[in-house]
Parts: sequence; structure tokens; C-alpha cells
Amino acid sequence: MEFILYEVKDMVATITINRPKALNALNSQVLEELDATLDAVDLNTVRCLILTGAGDKSFVAGADIGEMSTLTKAEGEAFGKKGNDVFRKLETFPIPVIAAINGFALGGGCEISMSCDIRICSENAVFGQPEAGLGITPGFGGTQRLARVVSVGMAKQLIYTARNIKADEAYRIGLVNAVYPAEELIPQAEKLAVTIAKNAPIAVRNCKKAINDGLQTDMDSALVIEEKLFGDCFETEDQKAGMGNFLEKDKEKKLKVVPFKNC
Ligand code: CAA
Repeated sequence: MEFILYEVKDMVATITINRPKALNALNSQVLEELDATLDAVDLNTVRCLILTGAGDKSFVAGADIGEMSTLTKAEGEAFGKKGNDVFRKLETFPIPVIAAINGFALGGGCEISMSCDIRICSENAVFGQPEAGLGITPGFGGTQRLARVVSVGMAKQLIYTARNIKADEAYRIGLVNAVYPAEELIPQAEKLAVTIAKNAPIAVRNCKKAINDGLQTDMDSALVIEEKLFGDCFETEDQKAGMGNFLEKDKEKKLKVVPFKNC
């Protein structure tokens, strides 16, 4: 891998997009390496992912403008699909993904963060969808996900104006959950990831699936999705251990670590 770093610690894996000379811009090779990295995550041991960018200036400064500049209509569509496919893999990844946004998150950078379950950022983070100023639409899911994460009106305003916003405004509109001084961002992301990783793994996966799948459908169908995934938990050792511990009032007992099953 030339542009992706991968590290595992305490049941938490960190993926770092490592192309700092281009502010971690996403060219085809970065997208392909990210795709392969996700395929290689060992879901028997890793319970939460952190996604960040190399360096202290940029998370991801967007799709690679140099690569896009000469694309034809068909190639543009194919490039959009390439990004969309990887980002969708991230969004539907079985375990939670935290975006630790350490600087510029523009265009494809804002879009990849929105494919993650949780976004936290450093004080120097900058968000935006500058595409309309470049003569294109957001092409890696921005027209769809921004309106689902913040209000429709705010998403339209940000996309039509191509205006960048700073971390405090991103927090105010609900694009990120928290803002930290730069040096605290990764420790805070790791702390959050470890907190998630300590909970019952199959239950956490089922929560993600229930929320994601439920949001794609009407409430009646969504509640059926929840009921199925809730029911599935009663076949797990974690449910027996977790409830057993509560009933025994044994606060010291931790949830038993069991191998994942496919869910
Ligand atoms: N694509 C390719 N290269 C990029 C890049 C991008 N998106 N963003 C930055 N770079 C490169 C620059 O070309 C420069 O390379 P060189 O040193 O070889 O010239 C290097 O990164 C450093 O960038 P700057 O010198 O511009 O750094 P700066 O601090 O002056 O500015 C910035 C930082 C404001 C982020 C500026 O680089 C910038 O505006 N970048 C483009 C942001 C953007 O428009 N992103 C959206 C892309 S379109 C998209 O993402 C479409 C989609 O939805 C799929």
C-alpha cells in the first residue's frame, strides 16, 4: 500500500489516508487501496474503525482535481461510481467507523466523513462542498448524504454556495459531534472507539444495521427490522452474560468476549 496506513490496537483499527503532499486527495489509487484495506479488516478481532488523514493540515482535501480535469462524461460517471462504491462499503461496514477529521474535509473529504457513523474533528478542521465552484456536482455521495446529516436547507445552501465552514459551524449544524484541540483528536477518537469496542460486539453491529437499514424505509418496516435484530441478540453468549451479570449484581464482570458470527 502506497497511500494507506493500517494499525490495530485494543480491538480498534486505524486507517490513515497517507498522501500528505496532495493533502490526502483521493485519486483512483487511494480509492482502490482503501477498498482493499476494508476487505482485509479482520472482523474477528477488530470492533471499531477510526478513519483519519496523515499530517496536521488535512483530513482529505477532496477527490483529485488533476485526475478529474480531463475526464469524459462516461469516465466522470465511472469515477463517481468508484468513489461511491468504496464509501458505501464504509457506510455499511459491519462495525462502527469514526471519522477523526484533522483539517480540510472538502468535497470528497467531507463526503467520506459522512459515510462514517460518527464524525469528530480538530479545531482547525474546514468543511465544504466546493464542487459547484469547480463546475461539477458533489460526486461521492455529497448531494445525498449532506441533506441526511444536516437539514435539507443547510445542505442546499452549502452545496449551491460552495462555501467552506469552520469546525465551530460544523458543530453547530450537527455535521460533527465534537471539536477538540488538534493534539487531543486521535486520543479522543481512540477513547470513543475503545468504549464502543467494550460493548457486546454482535449487539453493536446489530444496532448499526438496524439504524442504517431502518433509515432507508418507512417506520413500520423499520420496526420489523429492529425486532429481527433484537431477537437475534438472544442467541448470543453476550446477551446471556450481560443480563446474567446484571441479575447477579456483579459489577466487576465484563461482557464475555465471544467470536463474531455473521449478522
Ligand atoms: N486534488 C489534487 N490535489 C490537491 C487537492 C485536490 N483536491 N487539494 C490539494 N491538492 C494539492 C495541491 O495541488 C498542492 O499540490 P502541489 O504542492 O503539488 O502544488 C498541495 O495539495 C497543497 O495544496 P495547496 O498548495 O493548495 O495548499 P493550501 O494550504 O494553499 O490550500 C486547500 C489548501 C484550501 C485545501 C486547497 O488545496 C484547495 O482548495 N484544494 C482543493 C479543495 C477542493 O476543491 N476539493 C474538492 C475537489 S472536487 C471533489 O471532491 C469532487 C467529488 O465530490 C468527487
